[in-house]
Amino acid sequence: MATKGLDYSELYAKDLPPAAGPWEGVYPYNFTTGHGSPDLIPIDGFIESVTRALKREGRNLAVYYSNGGPMGNLALREFLVKKLRKYRGINVTVDEVMICSGSTQCILLINETLLEPGDTVITEMFTYAGALRNAQRRKANTIGIPLDDDGMRVDILESTLADLRSKGIRPKYIYTIPTCQNPTGTNLPMDRRREMLRISQEYGVPILEDECYADLIFDGEWEHAIRSLDDTNHVLHIGSFSKSLAPGVRLGYIVAPQGVMNQMLASKIDVGTNMVTPLMVADFLENNYEEHIETVRDMLHRKRDVLIASVREHFGPTVEFYEPRGGMLMWFKFPEGVDTSKPLEAAKKEGVIYNPGADWSADPKNHGSNYIRICYGLPSEDQIRGGIERLAKVFHQEVGIP
Ligand SMILES: Cc1ncc(COP(=O)(O)O)c(C=O)c1O
Repeated sequence: MATKGLDYSELYAKDLPPAAGPWEGVYPYNFTTGHGSPDLIPIDGFIESVTRALKREGRNLAVYYSNGGPMGNLALREFLVKKLRKYRGINVTVDEVMICSGSTQCILLINETLLEPGDTVITEMFTYAGALRNAQRRKANTIGIPLDDDGMRVDILESTLADLRSKGIRPKYIYTIPTCQNPTGTNLPMDRRREMLRISQEYGVPILEDECYADLIFDGEWEHAIRSLDDTNHVLHIGSFSKSLAPGVRLGYIVAPQGVMNQMLASKIDVGTNMVTPLMVADFLENNYEEHIETVRDMLHRKRDVLIASVREHFGPTVEFYEPRGGMLMWFKFPEGVDTSKPLEAAKKEGVIYNPGADWSADPKNHGSNYIRICYGLPSEDQIRGGIERLAKVFHQEVGIP
């Protein structure tokens, strides 16, 4: 007798997000997600480093948490302590740095430690969709603060916190991407960083500083991290190797005060981050960081320029944008009333994929639907030119712009 197939949906936990659809595969003109460039993967360097590191320390893989304990590979944490001091102005010890599976896991751990249903989280009005979704999944209310060309409007941050305080609400944290902001590409100047820290101290609301793209400034000076200004435990700082090296290494890090770190460690129940990639990455970066990151910045700089020229050529003046000084993504504004999600299916048929703006909005009903995000790390310069030309044709057909 045939047994009826088991219906797992009867067993699902309550309030799951909609199930994922099948993977759509690779589009020839892929402008979504902060992918890296295949040409920039340092294959020979990785091979040398992984070989050297495995010969030296490979036998430690037999033991959970070896090479540095539950906080992760010690050599990589030592490298980070030096890099954070030199490039971000942050002075910490290895005991304040934890390695995770991408900075995504850092965000998950912080949310696991801080968030309960009904809590409030402050974000930039346009921000990283992954961070928004995770806070919302924990049933937090996200409040978006408008941005201008200098990042988050800290005056509006302060009035929002004052308003919330008058209602008895103390948000759990202020999530900010101050350097190469995702998706707007803006950089928060030092005076705003100081002001944000002052506001955080005044209202007793910590800052979650996400510096995923901070290595990628290719034009002009870089600002120090907000964490570099803080000696009062108000900043949780996270970063990633996804953008400077490769998303596939799945390595990120948190800098946090000891007490919070210990609390997060209690929730890090994955029995440790992968131990092979940190061996390789620590060895590679110790020997090649400066040279490698210069190559990455140069390529991103060229691609940004190609993207800007292509958008000017094919979309003309109807589309406005901020010219980012670093990073791998740009945010394009269409006239009010244009719904940028509409052309997506037609664009896919032409082999082009992009992120409609509403997905990057803390308040998608009122903000974001007339923007698109274009990531330029993965496509080659020719693919950027060809993809933008195709996209302009699709937009013209679907929404009459340009
Ligand atoms: C601002 C920001 N933070 C965090 C992440 C997560 O990156 P990963 O988990 O690869 O470190 C991303 C990914 O694009 C991002 O844009």
